[in-house]
Amino acid sequence: MSTTRFLTGITTTGTPHLGNFVGSIRPSVAASLRPGVQSFYFLADYHALIKCEDPARIQRSTLEIAASWLAAGLNPEHVTFYRQSDIPEIPELNWLLSCVTGKGLLNRAHAYKASQDKNTEAGRESDDGVTAGLFMYPVLMGADILMFKAHKVPVGRDQVQHIEMARDMAASFNHLYGEHFVLPEAVIDDNVATLPGLDGRKMSKSYNNTIPLFSSREQLKKLVGSLLTDSRAPGEPKDTEGSALFQIYQAFASAAETEALRQQYAAGIAWGDAKQVLLERVDEVIAPMRAHYEELIHNPARIEQTLQAGAERARALATPFIRELRSAVGLRSLVQVADTAKPAKAAKAALPAFKQYREADGKFYFKLVAADGRLLLQSTGFGAPKDAGQAIGQLQKQAGALQALASHLVPVDGVDTSEVQTALQALADAAAAAQAAQ
Ligand code: TRP
Repeated sequence: MSTTRFLTGITTTGTPHLGNFVGSIRPSVAASLRPGVQSFYFLADYHALIKCEDPARIQRSTLEIAASWLAAGLNPEHVTFYRQSDIPEIPELNWLLSCVTGKGLLNRAHAYKASQDKNTEAGRESDDGVTAGLFMYPVLMGADILMFKAHKVPVGRDQVQHIEMARDMAASFNHLYGEHFVLPEAVIDDNVATLPGLDGRKMSKSYNNTIPLFSSREQLKKLVGSLLTDSRAPGEPKDTEGSALFQIYQAFASAAETEALRQQYAAGIAWGDAKQVLLERVDEVIAPMRAHYEELIHNPARIEQTLQAGAERARALATPFIRELRSAVGLRSLVQVADTAKPAKAAKAALPAFKQYREADGKFYFKLVAADGRLLLQSTGFGAPKDAGQAIGQLQKQAGALQALASHLVPVDGVDTSEVQTALQALADAAAAAQAAQ
């Protein structure tokens, strides 16, 4: 069975909450255990710099997110788990991709447009406070994805456009420089719940309505207690529809348990009792991971070591790949021989060419000109075009043709035989490569 590479990044700006666990950590850890899957999960700390200018927060968040994923069962032996900023090949690829990405494409990015719209609404200049980093966000994300030839990228709906942009970048690059990149696809799991937060809106750091994944039991109890409910008294039947409490419970409970709570709602369970049921269910899932989390978070050196090991594995792929890409675009040693397997367009542009023509004397001539237009070889006049064509054919195919046809060739000033030989060889190589490609 061929393996499918999954890759996803987590921006290191916040503390993981129950919504992250249900929507991302839990399904990603489960997916990494499926057979035929190779997973790359990384801490997107370069991306974090776009949103957060607090160095301590970036560092703390990196630690908390790494500890959370490991505590939730991520196996770093099985998954390539690394920190983006440990892979210098990523910013390097970022530049190569920047050079094949239309500015117009980036102008259309939702996140950038949303910032502009906000400014316009507030009567400000449209790019007010927008950094070049925010504008370039999709390119850096493209570099993350394309570097590891990911087939599938599990993301939230808000990120789908970025994956499409990464595909565009890959296709542009491949078109210009040959097939180097895999075209990635976004994966959205519709079965994964979006959790409501304490106020009933989507649980999100930006709404300040989250329940941290690894708060203590007492803290968890306090937060569950503050969950927004309606004013129905004990004994009054309650709606499961639109109940944040019910939705969170459902994400942690089995179908049978969920059904049981539904019946208790109908029977008029008191909100205080429902909150107690929720607390126990969530704590049952979290408690075993919490112990592991506490142990990890107090041992940053161990996490650092895990991330370094992950970076080493990631770079074992990234280092040779960036070398290949650098060479493909022409960033290469001056003594390196040009790759004959270049795409047709680039190869054609760099090749010498034979030209046939008729002079005023009525005879048929040919010449060989270099890619830069310089004259390399000049024939004498032939009586028939067929004869000129035959001579060209010989020169293209036979190694000794240059000597054999010497009487039909006029010396060209400043061009020596070895240069002509090299040009003929380049033509022969290109013809062979074209044939091989068919
Ligand atoms: N932008 C993503 C988010 O905010 C995080 C991210 C960075 C990412 N690089 C990525 C996700 C590459 C998937 C693939 O959720």
